[in-house]
Amino acid sequence: MTGREGAIDLPGHHASPAPVVGIARVGLTLSSRAGDVEILKDISLEIPAGQSVAIVGPSGSGKTSLLMLIGGLERATAGEIVVAGHSLSGLDEDALARIRSQAIGVVFQSFHLVPTMTALENVALPLEFRGEPRARDKSRVALAEVGLAQRLEHYPAQLSGGEQQRVALARALVTEPRLLLADEPTGNLDGATGRQVIELMFALGRRHGTTLVLVTHDERLAGRCARIVRMADGRIVSDVAGQSDSDVKVAHDPSAAGATA
Ligand SMILES: Nc1ncnc2c1ncn2[C@@H]1O[C@H](COP(=O)(O)OP(=O)(O)OP(=O)(O)O)[C@@H](O)[C@H]1O
Ligand SMILES: [Mg+2]
Repeated sequence: MTGREGAIDLPGHHASPAPVVGIARVGLTLSSRAGDVEILKDISLEIPAGQSVAIVGPSGSGKTSLLMLIGGLERATAGEIVVAGHSLSGLDEDALARIRSQAIGVVFQSFHLVPTMTALENVALPLEFRGEPRARDKSRVALAEVGLAQRLEHYPAQLSGGEQQRVALARALVTEPRLLLADEPTGNLDGATGRQVIELMFALGRRHGTTLVLVTHDERLAGRCARIVRMADGRIVSDVAGQSDSDVKVAHDPSAAGATA
C-alpha cells in the first residue's frame, strides 16, 4: 500500500487519480460562553495523491483546526470532507478511528507519545489497534528507518526531543498511511534536529508515496513543499506552487493575481 494505486495510466488515457483529500465549502463554528466562534470559513481544497502541501499563516488563523478536521479528530460544522475515498461526515467515532488507522498518520508538535510505553510499544500501538499479527517486527523496521534501532526499549522520558519526534514519525508511518498530517513537527526541536526530522519526513514520504500536509511557521520549510496554502482569519487566502515541484497544478487560487509566494 503506497497511495499510488490510483495512478495507473491506461494507454491513450491520462489518468487523474482521485484526490486523497477533498474539502468542499467546509466551516467550523464552535460555541463558547462568549457566543459562537467561526473558526474556519468556506474552505475548499483538493490534494492529489503524493503531493506535499504546506499550510502557513498567522497564529490563530485556523491551521491546526483544519488539520484536525482532515484527520477526523474534529468534526466540521458545514461542508464535506473526503479522505482516501471516505466521506467523514456522518461517521461515528469508531468508523473515524478505523479510517485514521487505515489511511492517516499524524505527527504533533509535542510528540504525544504514551509515557508508560517503550519506543517499540508506542510504534506498535496503531498496528495492534488494527489487529496486525506482525506488529512488533514491523515496528522494529520502522524504528530502524528513523535511525532508532538502538532505542527500542527506551521510554519517552529516556529519549531526546528529536528522538521522541522520530519515534512519533515511525508511529505515524508504520501503518503505511496514504496521508501524513504534521502540525509544526519541529516546533519543539532545535534548528539542526528539526532539519534532520524534516529531511527524514520528506525522504520517507517520497519512498512510500505518502501525501503530506505540513503546518509550519517556517517559510523556508514551506517552500520545500510542492504547494503552499496560506490561511488568514479562518480562510484560505492563497494557494500557490512551492519550489520543489514546478509541475504542480494548484486547485484554485482565491486571491488570483494578488497571490504572493
Ligand atoms: N475549542 C475551541 N473553542 C473555541 N475557540 C477555539 C477552540 N480551539 C481553537 N479555537 C480558536 O480557533 C482559532 C484557530 O485556532 P488554531 O489552533 O486552528 O490556530 P493555528 O493557526 O493553528 O494557530 P497557531 O499557529 O498558534 O498554532 C483561534 O482563534 C483559537 O482561539
Ligand atoms: Mg496550531
